[in-house]
Amino acid sequence: MKRIRLALVYCPTIFISVRFDPDHSSKIPKHVAIIMDGNGRWAKSRGLPRIEGHRKGADAVKRALEAANECGVSYLTLYAFSVENWNRPKAEVDALMNLLDQFLKSQLSHLKKHKIRLKVIGRIHELPTKVQERLKKSIEATKDFTKCTLALALNYGARTETVDAVKSMLQAASEGKLDPNAVDYETLAKHLYTSDLPDPDLIIRTSGESRLSNFLLLQAAYAEIHFCKVLWPDFGADDFKAALADYASRERRYGKTGDQLQAK
Ligand code: FPP
Repeated sequence: MKRIRLALVYCPTIFISVRFDPDHSSKIPKHVAIIMDGNGRWAKSRGLPRIEGHRKGADAVKRALEAANECGVSYLTLYAFSVENWNRPKAEVDALMNLLDQFLKSQLSHLKKHKIRLKVIGRIHELPTKVQERLKKSIEATKDFTKCTLALALNYGARTETVDAVKSMLQAASEGKLDPNAVDYETLAKHLYTSDLPDPDLIIRTSGESRLSNFLLLQAAYAEIHFCKVLWPDFGADDFKAALADYASRERRYGKTGDQLQAK
């Protein structure tokens, strides 16, 4: 018999009930990406300034990183600042950049201790100099770690990423390094910011909103998407594990039929 329904996949502190899969590890997503939403509403419902929501959101980032590590997720990508977020009030943008700077400063020892590589996707060169320097320092200090990667999407947008990739390909073609007739999706993927990351298996969005908001649009082609109602500052290890359990219950078909997969 090829399949037994309701086998158990172990993730420390929870058991996820899923269909039997001979390769149990495939039920733990390799790459989880999160759209961290709801900081403002969390603060507003408490009569606090929005930045307090972002502050608590930074604590939730630490919890998510720990949960990902604990569950054996190798890549965690967090949507921390979009290209559209520059349109927010200057005071909020400045506060977010300060928070990011403080976060990087305080977390470097944690990243090193747990052998987590830091990566950034987005137009880094447009970020404040102070943040760019802090990022460079953390990226350099963690660049040789291979066990786990934390990718921060900063000044990120899927459309600007695509434009940058196309520009990069045109440049390569003009230098005779790329044959335009040989371009396929794999070629394009090599010019995306995510060229050294696998596609996300699971995308989580918090706060009850159900959209991708210009996040990893090409890479998300076959991702499972988990929308949860929890506001990001309240997001904890149990919410992360619930998302993994939801992921484990899905059948990823990649265009095939369910019968074809059963026959495998
Ligand atoms: C969306 O909530 C959140 C952001 C635009 C910023 C995310 C930032 C953090 C989680 C904290 C800092 C990050 C790091 C990596 C240290 P929102 O403000 O749009 O919430 P709302 O929709 O309720 O207004």
